[in-house]
Amino acid sequence: MKGSRNTKGNGTGATRTQERATEFQAFGSMVAMPIALAESARREGVDNLNQLLADTMTLRDLYKKHHWQVAGPTFYQLHLLFDKHFGEQVELVDLIAERIMQLGGVSIAMASDVAEMTLIPFPPKGCEEPPVQIGRLLHAHEIVLKEARTMAAQADREGDDATNDILVSNVIRTNEAQVWFVSKHMVDVQSAGM
Ligand SMILES: [Fe+2]
Repeated sequence: MKGSRNTKGNGTGATRTQERATEFQAFGSMVAMPIALAESARREGVDNLNQLLADTMTLRDLYKKHHWQVAGPTFYQLHLLFDKHFGEQVELVDLIAERIMQLGGVSIAMASDVAEMTLIPFPPKGCEEPPVQIGRLLHAHEIVLKEARTMAAQADREGDDATNDILVSNVIRTNEAQVWFVSKHMVDVQSAGM
C-alpha cells in the first residue's frame, strides 16, 4: 500500500486495533528514562516491584474473596473491613505498576501473570471460617512486608528515592495498618485476666 503508514496492511482497510501487532516493548526489557538513575538501579527496581505487584494483586483479590465469602456473627464488620482494605490495596497496585513504567520497565498486569509469580499460597475456591480467612490475610501481609522492607533498603542504596518512598510511605505503612485492624479480631479478650 504505497503512501500508507500501515506497511503490513493487506488493503482491506483494517484498523490498527484489529492487527496482531508485535510488542513495542517486551516484558523484561528496559527503555531509557532520563531520571538520572543508572539502568542497573532502574532494572533492579523494576524486577523487585513486579514481584511486589504480583503479591499485592494477590492480597487485593484475597480481600475481595473474603469480603464476598465471610460468614458468622462478625459478618457485617468483616464484610465492610475486607472491602475497605481491598480498596486500599487497589491504590497500591496502581502506584507500584506506574512506578515500574516510570523506571522504564514493563509491569505485569493480568491474573495469569500474577498466578505465575506470586509467593502467596493459593486459597481454595470455597468458603473458609473467619479465623482461617484472617490467618491467610496476615500471612500474605507478612510476605509483602518482608519483601517490601528488603526492596526499600535496596532502593535506598541505589539512590532511588521515589521507589523507596512508595515502599515505605505507601506499601509498608498501609500493610502494617491493615494488619493491625485484621489481627485485633483474633484477640481473645475473654481470657485476658478478666
Ligand atoms: Fe461488595
